Amino acid sequence: MAGRALRGAAPPAPGGERRAALGLLLQVLLGWGSAQQPGSCPAPCECSEAARTVKCVNRNLTAVPPDLPPYARLLFLTGNRLASLPPGAFLSPPLPQLSLLNLSGSHVEQVEAGAFASLASLRQLDLSGNALTRFSPEAFGNASSPLEELNLSNSLSNQSAVAALAELLGSGVLGNLSRLELADNRLLSLPAGMFSSLPSLQHLDLRNNSLVSLQAATFHSLAQLQSLDLSHNSLKCLKNATIAQLRSRPVLRRVSLGHNTWVCDCCIEHLVSWLKESEQVEGKGALKCSYPEKMRDKPLVKTNSSDLDCSVPVDIQSQLQTSYVFLGIVLALIGAIFLLVLYLNRKGIKKWMYNIRDACRDHMEGYHYRYEVNADPRLPNLSSSSDV
Ligand SMILES: *[C@@H]1O[C@H](CO)[C@@H](O)[C@H](O)[C@H]1NC(C)=O
Ligand SMILES: *[C@@H]1O[C@H](CO)[C@@H](O)[C@H](O)[C@H]1NC(C)=O
Ligand SMILES: *[C@@H]1O[C@H](CO)[C@@H](O)[C@H](O)[C@H]1NC(C)=O
Ligand SMILES: *[C@@H]1O[C@H](CO)[C@@H](O)[C@H](O)[C@H]1NC(C)=O
Ligand SMILES: *[C@@H]1O[C@H](CO)[C@@H](O)[C@H](O)[C@H]1NC(C)=O
Ligand SMILES: *[C@@H]1O[C@H](CO)[C@@H](O)[C@H](O)[C@H]1NC(C)=O
Ligand SMILES: *[C@@H]1O[C@H](CO)[C@@H](O)[C@H](O)[C@H]1NC(C)=O
Ligand SMILES: *[C@@H]1O[C@H](CO)[C@@H](O)[C@H](O)[C@H]1NC(C)=O
Ligand SMILES: *[C@@H]1O[C@H](CO)[C@@H](O)[C@H](O)[C@H]1NC(C)=O
Repeated sequence: MAGRALRGAAPPAPGGERRAALGLLLQVLLGWGSAQQPGSCPAPCECSEAARTVKCVNRNLTAVPPDLPPYARLLFLTGNRLASLPPGAFLSPPLPQLSLLNLSGSHVEQVEAGAFASLASLRQLDLSGNALTRFSPEAFGNASSPLEELNLSNSLSNQSAVAALAELLGSGVLGNLSRLELADNRLLSLPAGMFSSLPSLQHLDLRNNSLVSLQAATFHSLAQLQSLDLSHNSLKCLKNATIAQLRSRPVLRRVSLGHNTWVCDCCIEHLVSWLKESEQVEGKGALKCSYPEKMRDKPLVKTNSSDLDCSVPVDIQSQLQTSYVFLGIVLALIGAIFLLVLYLNRKGIKKWMYNIRDACRDHMEGYHYRYEVNADPRLPNLSSSSDV
């Protein structure tokens, strides 16, 4: 600090002594203002001003270092133990130029509201390889964020993090997002409308999850989508509505569907005809049936409607109908037998009913009598004596 101030004062510009003194004063003030010389590098980091890069990598840091140089455009905080990113985690000092933030593999568990809100130039955020349990839907603040690439691969550790992410994506804050990586997350399903507010999304990676089926509306609003990776999931079939959405995306050229558990029954018919007619699906010749047993490993594009047994559902339906008719007949029979028994026993039943009526009447009369006696205020002694 002192060295810099001295250098600033040393060459007195001709006829500019006052300006030099002012400069000195300013620099001293600035020096006092921030704990460290601007442009310096925090101890656990390596900084390169020329490359505008700061790397604080594999240091087991538990918090973001406080005095990062404000010139930073690329910040690598990978391989640390950050646990939680509090509100304003990147606020002191502000990093107005930061465009890439890499937090990969840093044991981040909680991202709180406003954690990234101060980063006005952030384009790329890599949060892959963490174990998020809480991810605030307001992590980027409330105003729209310039973020273009978000990597959350192998990073969403439980369902509440997935729900929070869906809320964040749905809030419309990430309207400029063009690439979203959600691979390796064991996702079983996608919350409804998860991708409904990402008008700029071009690349969506859902590889290596556990998706069994896709909601029809899932990709509805992704008008710019160019590539979609659904490989290494547990998909059994794609509904016609989903296929219709994907077919109607004009720029979608790369759909990956490999390594799923396709069930080659009638449901797969629409997928097969899409594969046969379109070049959108990458490596379509390698897609194979997993079930039923007789179709195992048969390429999807080589199946035809006679293989797919599309008559089966109709059979099931007619079987269901016959069984309903049978059930109705049985119920009607039971009812008829019941009525017959009643009819045959009509005399006995009549007698029985009279008996019950008489018993009731006797009981009610006794009750009435006692009530009247007890309720008469003029006869308190009588009632007590009658009880005795
Ligand atoms: C970080 O922690 C791990 C395990 O606790 C240890 O092996 C490693 O040496 C630590 N690294 C640093 C830079 O302290
Ligand atoms: C972030 O760092 C990880 C680990 O070093 C690396 O694999 C990944 O490519 C980086 N991501 C970006 C966007 O630079
Ligand atoms: C977002 O807005 C809500 C209410 O409008 C406010 O309570 C919250 O603090 C804001 N969050 C951030 C990170 O600014
Ligand atoms: C989103 O991108 C457009 C076009 O590149 C740009 O004009 C706009 O400022 C961006 N939005 C934000 C919030 O940065
Ligand atoms: C995360 O995705 C980005 C692209 O958005 C990619 O450059 C980066 O390498 C990915 N990181 C890892 C660890 O795969
Ligand atoms: C997710 O993990 C957090 C922290 O471990 C826990 O509080 C929360 O209940 C979990 N949510 C679900 C849905 O499992
Ligand atoms: C798939 O994701 C799991 C974690 O969800 C990971 O352990 C596994 O290595 C991934 N497999 C591949 C082939 O990337
Ligand atoms: C499936 O979707 C296509 C549009 O892609 C439509 O022409 C066809 O009628 C649909 N088939 C059924 C059975 O709904
Ligand atoms: C369907 O494919 C089978 C072989 O897998 C073939 O024997 C049959 O003739 C084909 N049927 C039609 C209608 O193309």
